[in-house]
Amino acid sequence: MTDLTQQLQDMREEYDGVPLRKSELAKSPLTQFSIWLKDAQNADIFDPNACSLSTVDDCGAPAARAVLLKGLESGKFSFYTNYNSRKAKHLEVNPQATMHFPWFSLERQVVVSGSVEKVSINQSEEYFNSRPSMSRLGAWASQQSEALDSRETLEKKFLEAREKMGDDPPRPEHWGGYALNPHSIEFWQGGPNRLHDRFIYKLESDQNWILNRFYP
Ligand SMILES: Cc1cc2nc3c(=O)[nH]c(=O)nc-3n(C[C@H](O)[C@H](O)[C@H](O)COP(=O)(O)O)c2cc1C
Repeated sequence: MTDLTQQLQDMREEYDGVPLRKSELAKSPLTQFSIWLKDAQNADIFDPNACSLSTVDDCGAPAARAVLLKGLESGKFSFYTNYNSRKAKHLEVNPQATMHFPWFSLERQVVVSGSVEKVSINQSEEYFNSRPSMSRLGAWASQQSEALDSRETLEKKFLEAREKMGDDPPRPEHWGGYALNPHSIEFWQGGPNRLHDRFIYKLESDQNWILNRFYP
C-alpha cells in the first residue's frame, strides 16, 4: 500500500449532527431547500450557492462541473453559462441534469435532479445586466470549453472585447440561463456510526411531492 493510500484510509470523520426527522421536514422540498441554503449561508460556507452540475453526453458518458445557483423561482433552479459550452452540448442531446450541493461542514448534502430548459431571453438579459461589467466582458472573451493555446490569448481577447464594447457590453447571444425543473430532491444529514438520515422527495404525476426515507 502506498503512503498516500494509507493516508487516505486514515482520513475518517465522525458525523454527529442533529438527527433529521421526517416530521421536521417541510411539505415542499423547495421550502426545505431554502431553509438549508439559509443554514449554509449562516454557517459562512464559501459559495453556499455553488453546486456540482452533472450532465450526460450523447454516448451516455457523465461529466460534472461546478456552477452557481442563481435563481429558485416557480420551483425551478436556474444557472447561467455559455450556450456553446460542453455542458450546453450535453443538454442539447439530453436535457436532464443533477445538481449536487456539497454542504459538508454542516454534514449535509442535497441532490436535485430533473429536466432542463433554457430560460427566456428576457431573464438571461436581466441577469447578465446585473453582473459586474468585467464579468460581462469575460463572457465575450471566453469561448468556454474550447482548447486555448495560452493565458495571453485569453487576456488579449478580454482587452479586445473591452476596446470594442467599452465597460457596458451587451449580452452575447451565446450566453444565457438554464432552469432545472426538479422531479426528485434528496436531503442527506450525517449521523453517528454511518447511520445517516436520507430523505427523497419525488414529484408524482398529480404534481404533489411524496417524501420517503431511504437507507443511507
Ligand atoms: C465555484 C465555481 C462556480 C462556477 N460557476 C459557474 C457558473 O455559474 N457557470 C459556468 O458556466 N461556469 C461556472 N464555473 C466553471 C465551471 O465549473 C466549468 O469549468 C465551465 O462551466 C466549463 O464547463 P463545461 O466545459 O463542462 O461546459 C464555476 C466554477 C467554480 C469552481
